[in-house]
Amino acid sequence: MTFDTIIAGGSVVTADGMQQADVGIRGEKIAAVRKGLAPGKNARKGAVGGNGAQGPNVIDASGCYVIPGGVDVHVHLELPFCGTVSSDDYDSGTRAAARGGVTTVIDFAIPYGEESLAQAVENWMNRARDKACVDYSFHVAVTKWNRHKHEMKEMVERGLPTFKQFMIYEREGWQADDAAIFGALEQCRELDAMLLIHAESSRVLDELIARRHNEEDMRKYGARLHTMTRPNYIEAEAIQRAVTWADATGGKLYIVHMSTADGTDLIRDAHRRGLKNVWAETCAQYLVLDDSLFGRPDGHLYACCPQIKKKRDQRRLWSGLKSGDVCVVSTDTCTFTREQKAMWGGDFTRIPMGLPGLETLIPIVYTHGVLKKRLTIRQLVEKCCSNPAKLMGLYPRKGAIARGSDADLAIIHPSRKIKVDPTRMATNADWSPYEGWPLAGFARTTLCRGQVIVDDYKFVGRNGYGQFLPRKSPGKL
Ligand code: URP
Ligand code: ZN
Ligand code: ZN
Repeated sequence: MTFDTIIAGGSVVTADGMQQADVGIRGEKIAAVRKGLAPGKNARKGAVGGNGAQGPNVIDASGCYVIPGGVDVHVHLELPFCGTVSSDDYDSGTRAAARGGVTTVIDFAIPYGEESLAQAVENWMNRARDKACVDYSFHVAVTKWNRHKHEMKEMVERGLPTFKQFMIYEREGWQADDAAIFGALEQCRELDAMLLIHAESSRVLDELIARRHNEEDMRKYGARLHTMTRPNYIEAEAIQRAVTWADATGGKLYIVHMSTADGTDLIRDAHRRGLKNVWAETCAQYLVLDDSLFGRPDGHLYACCPQIKKKRDQRRLWSGLKSGDVCVVSTDTCTFTREQKAMWGGDFTRIPMGLPGLETLIPIVYTHGVLKKRLTIRQLVEKCCSNPAKLMGLYPRKGAIARGSDADLAIIHPSRKIKVDPTRMATNADWSPYEGWPLAGFARTTLCRGQVIVDDYKFVGRNGYGQFLPRKSPGKL
């Protein structure tokens, strides 16, 4: 059997276990996973390239983990939001992904104004096509229920079987009410699709914001008002409601960016009651950051939505990951530069909400999860690679190291730490929530469909290499 590339001598980790093995790659696919694939000492060694005629390109992974490429199912690239446009596009955003060992991203195609779902997808395809350096797909946001409900079937037929509704963001024109959520879940059940929900309780949230949106409070509390107006029950009540509609309709429900201990308990309770159509993700920032940050002079930088909670919430999210209440860690990447964040001008309702994250997802989960013994390396692979691929209808093409899967791989050194320095990162952000943090788990080498796109921690891929990924039958673990 001949190979174009062999990843030799690493500890190959999947959600099922770890083995010492070589990974043989032919074209874009994994062709074999077993010991003894690597040829003898005459083999051509290196990282970039690979050509069967001259013998395989052998990449030495000894002493390192070889994991499936990360699958970040929650990113926003070039998103018009909060009066500006998020600063990572498909160029910088997918370079950042590659450096973090992430080889698949799923963004959200959101219709603006009276646009159809098809128009929204076209707009996002145009953003991605010539720029993406890793593979991509889209969830489709259903923002105008009475119109968009007739368009969901066409989306599923085009390989876009995951839909998004926001319980908030009335100002943006994105808000879905309970009738729309109920109807979308019914349709998802019929179409073999899944509904993703941003769960925050809008009317009470608006009321709490209105009570604090005055000169005196804003002078006194500054960015802390962002967190003071979003107590945990804002998320918990909304999750409870969404779970009730999922139970009633039988539609598949995936709670995005869950940030609270209370939400985690509700998902656990739903699972205990026997609901098999409800899942939740959290994001890296909710696992390692807490709301004391809003008291800093630059506290407004950390505003995201939902906002960062307390240490108690972090602990419960980690335990939820361990027990399976929480299935996925994503990033909700939505990057704004310092200049963009400064648009808030002291008004907490005007902060562009979102954080950079793609480059640091696996390093955060590895350093603060695996190295701190909150998760095993196998569980990291489950939460960042295989579960997201399964839930979004990409498995086993993505999220696996098995014969026939795409040769998407990240090689990570088990202990080498790199200090987070925004000036040396691919993201367009000129700051990082993790600036100065020493993190292990950055990709020494990343391959996407058999091509080396990160070599020795440096991006060596190209724009337009990333492919659109049609998906089907989401909501299976
Ligand atoms: O702060 C965030 N998360 N910005 C992106 C929009 C969203 O709600 O995911
Ligand atoms: Zn959201
Ligand atoms: Zn988001």
